[in-house]
Amino acid sequence: MQTKSSAAPVAFKDIRGVPVSYPDRAAIDGLESAILMSLSFRGDAIGEIDKVLQEHPDFIMGWLFKAGWLTQAMETRVYQMMLDSLSEAERLISKGNEREQGHFEAVKAWIEGDFFGAVQKWEAVLTRYPMDLLALELIHYTMVLLGDVPGQRDVVARVFNLWDESIPGYEFVLGFYSFGLEENRDFARAEELARQALSIRPDNPYAVHTVSHVMEMRGRQAGGIRFMRDYAATWGTSNFANHLWWHTGLYHLDLEQYDDVYKIFDTHLDSRNKDGHKYEELDAAALLWRMNLVGQDAGDRWSHLADKWEPAAQDTLYAFNDVHAMLTFVSDDREEAQKALLSANERYLENASDANVAMTREIGLPFCLAMQDFKRENYTACVERLLPIRYMTHRLGGSYAQRDIIGWTLLEAALRAKQFDLALALANERTGIKPTSAQNWRAVARAFRGLGDRGQADRATAKAQALIAA
Ligand SMILES: [Fe+2]
Repeated sequence: MQTKSSAAPVAFKDIRGVPVSYPDRAAIDGLESAILMSLSFRGDAIGEIDKVLQEHPDFIMGWLFKAGWLTQAMETRVYQMMLDSLSEAERLISKGNEREQGHFEAVKAWIEGDFFGAVQKWEAVLTRYPMDLLALELIHYTMVLLGDVPGQRDVVARVFNLWDESIPGYEFVLGFYSFGLEENRDFARAEELARQALSIRPDNPYAVHTVSHVMEMRGRQAGGIRFMRDYAATWGTSNFANHLWWHTGLYHLDLEQYDDVYKIFDTHLDSRNKDGHKYEELDAAALLWRMNLVGQDAGDRWSHLADKWEPAAQDTLYAFNDVHAMLTFVSDDREEAQKALLSANERYLENASDANVAMTREIGLPFCLAMQDFKRENYTACVERLLPIRYMTHRLGGSYAQRDIIGWTLLEAALRAKQFDLALALANERTGIKPTSAQNWRAVARAFRGLGDRGQADRATAKAQALIAA
């Protein structure tokens, strides 16, 4: 007769008590190290897990981490690696536990193009295992990618009360929650939780990111510059540095410190000598387009950026990428690349049924066409395309600050189309949301000038100048 201790399998768990079927402490610690890299935007999480998997090729949760983390890249170049990792997991799935089977189903749904289904599968895992920090991370980021704004916040709220500072990784949970709160305009609580996260771990780029968004949304440009520079010694060397430099650039842009914007671009965002990831290059494109909207000449910067985007013209993987690719093709007058992107998207819409279809049809394609109109100075057509979709743009994914490029383009097109009534209405709306933005008051001034009201135009200009001087 076996004793109780020898009959029961050893139940291995990670440092948060979540069960792991593979009975090897070194492998589980190695996975933890890779997850920490993903959470802290440090090192090479995929390289780290590869080292573990070389030693432990049957470590199913290792393969599931690799496949799950690769979903977030939204790039075709990692697609095969993601498929290979999933098939390694499939080889082992019969030995996996309930949690691992949930992760497997989630990535499988993703690969089949059902991004929302993937979220549901990861959600089921998180509901059962609220300490599964990897599941929480993947759901939160995916909701950002898909533009599920309340979901970014609420997925964290569903487990938040169960966490506290004694549980390893709490600072990252605070980071996720703070960003979800910020996107849902609960700015005070968002900043409070982000700063709490930073008090636990100052090197926490995602919490820095929340504060940068709060500063952006509230129009605290000078405070934003100070905050970002204060923490730059840590986030500046992280894998999130490009995006955080983009945020820093936005503050300078609003204050008309255009030399500083280009200095940031040339030093940190220009990827001509780098093997840039798409999410880095889309920040670069988005910043240059805003500089275009305020009338600044980008020199040859578009050309290098368009070179980087051109191989992805026909990906049709993620509408958010496609609109940024289009920004570069339009700005660099690459007619062939524009045609290739548009026809690939049209073909894709006819045949596909994955989660990206709605994003492309409703927002991606109309915005791509609107950009063409804008560049060709068909400003009325640009306005007509963007007006009907302006309240649906969250479906494109990304953050409010990123998507603001659409509303700003619409306003600029209305001004250039000499539709000054509309332009004034849109500019007023923007000053209502962000009264401390000099650029919003500049737009109000231009609209009033167009309408022939010099007094109101001068008052709006004075407000803009006062904000810049302050
Ligand atoms: Fe951001």
